[in-house]
Amino acid sequence: MKKDLIITIFGATGDLTSRKLLPALSKLYQDEQISKNTLIIALGRRDYDSKTFLAYMKESSAAALDTKPLESLVIYQKMDISNPKDYPALVELIQANKHEKTRELFYLAIAPELFPDVSYHINTSKLVTQGDINQSIVFEKPFGHDLESAKAINEMLWQYFDEKQIYRIDHYLGKEMIQNIMMVRFANRIFEEIWHNRSIKSVKIIAKEEEGILGRAGYYDSSGALKDMVQSHLLQMLSLIAMEVPMSYFSDDVKNEKVKVIKHLSFDKDSLIFGQYRGYLEEKNIPKDSKTDTFVFLKTYVNTPRFKGVPFYLMTGKKLDAKESLIIIEFEETSEQRKWNLPLSTNKLYIKIAPLDGVGLILNSKVPGLRDDVETVELEYCIACHAVGNMSEAYQKLLLDITEHHKSLFTRWDEIETSWHFIDQIKKHQKDPIIYQSYEDLKPLIFELTKEEMK
Ligand SMILES: NC(=O)c1ccc[n+]([C@@H]2O[C@H](COP(=O)([O-])OP(=O)(O)OC[C@H]3O[C@@H](n4cnc5c(N)ncnc54)[C@H](OP(=O)(O)O)[C@@H]3O)[C@@H](O)[C@H]2O)c1
Repeated sequence: MKKDLIITIFGATGDLTSRKLLPALSKLYQDEQISKNTLIIALGRRDYDSKTFLAYMKESSAAALDTKPLESLVIYQKMDISNPKDYPALVELIQANKHEKTRELFYLAIAPELFPDVSYHINTSKLVTQGDINQSIVFEKPFGHDLESAKAINEMLWQYFDEKQIYRIDHYLGKEMIQNIMMVRFANRIFEEIWHNRSIKSVKIIAKEEEGILGRAGYYDSSGALKDMVQSHLLQMLSLIAMEVPMSYFSDDVKNEKVKVIKHLSFDKDSLIFGQYRGYLEEKNIPKDSKTDTFVFLKTYVNTPRFKGVPFYLMTGKKLDAKESLIIIEFEETSEQRKWNLPLSTNKLYIKIAPLDGVGLILNSKVPGLRDDVETVELEYCIACHAVGNMSEAYQKLLLDITEHHKSLFTRWDEIETSWHFIDQIKKHQKDPIIYQSYEDLKPLIFELTKEEMK
């Protein structure tokens, strides 16, 4: 029987496929979110058949991958994706299984250096016709390592595919709470009315990790925290927080506003801190003289009428005290608070992205009892705790959206262009990293530069 959906994965023996793509596809299939009539073509150089390939995937997937539902969906095809002679067999397999309206995804789960070759072969073997929106090309960050390289990749892709066929994945955008930022901002009058520099004192965007580089030396050492995390995930979060109200909830209107934010960003060069965790140089395949940053902190400003003057602190790093991604929006004191000089905390809105998604609000309240003492309380809504069984992994959402042609959660080229432009400016001021043993070594430095306590 001809298939409604064909997903061809280039680099199917890799980490991304075993840990993210196949678990997500298995779940989508079991939940009947994708067609029962789906074919997944897994391409790799190794000597597997479909059965031994799935056994290998199960073994290498950290989350227990349920391969049972995949048995009827997956065909493993041995292929050197750099070799044009191997393409006719793939074309034949796809032709034998597709009908006129088949939705086709070509997922490049491979190193970016292979993109030009594979794109060329996909195009010349006529697997994809430029402009056919039923055929999409999907790939992951990193989208280059600076503005120039990102432009080169993009121009290469535009030779073969139209922008509407291209899906660039920044998996952070698939996370539940990232999608929820717009809802919190625009569907709650209490926030919508005070979302500006007269009420907001500061914004902190934090992505801390406890782990080190987990064996990804080749990629990480040429990237570092600023390029790996700030250029993509942190600037995406910042732009969702700081953007103007979009004309509509639709993809392009939202992206237009996000791009404007990044165009209006500036940073305080004296606030920059680059760090490298002690032990990084002893990691396998890291050069002994590497100056790569595994931690970065910086203070930025969004120079729009809405946010002018409000500091946005960005911080991310490895081997810190916790695995935690969150945004903290701190509000100004009330005039009474100032007038009465009460020792009260400021209100804060916590948008918690990982490990548990949720929203928290810090308020001041009287301590119950006879005295007039006050205390700080947190109202917390843990989304993950209340949605048992319904929480989807970011990749499920992203893959489903691609099959349904929804582009909101994928990065548009001008978002990448403007964010690399900003990162390239910061890079000019990059200093040798400070060596840190733990997060405790970095906190006093941040405080010294900004008088801000980071979480
Ligand atoms: N892993 C993640 O969580 C993650 C997260 C974000 C972004 N990404 C991005 O996603 C992409 C894939 O990442 P990954 O971690 O899965 O990489 P990976 O583990 O290194 O896997 C890449 C795969 O490509 C295959 N390959 C290389 N050359 C080939 C050729 N000529 N013919 C056929 N297969 C070939 C390799 O197969 P062999 O077995 O034959 O060597 C390998 O299995 C990268 O661009 C990465 O930056 C990954």
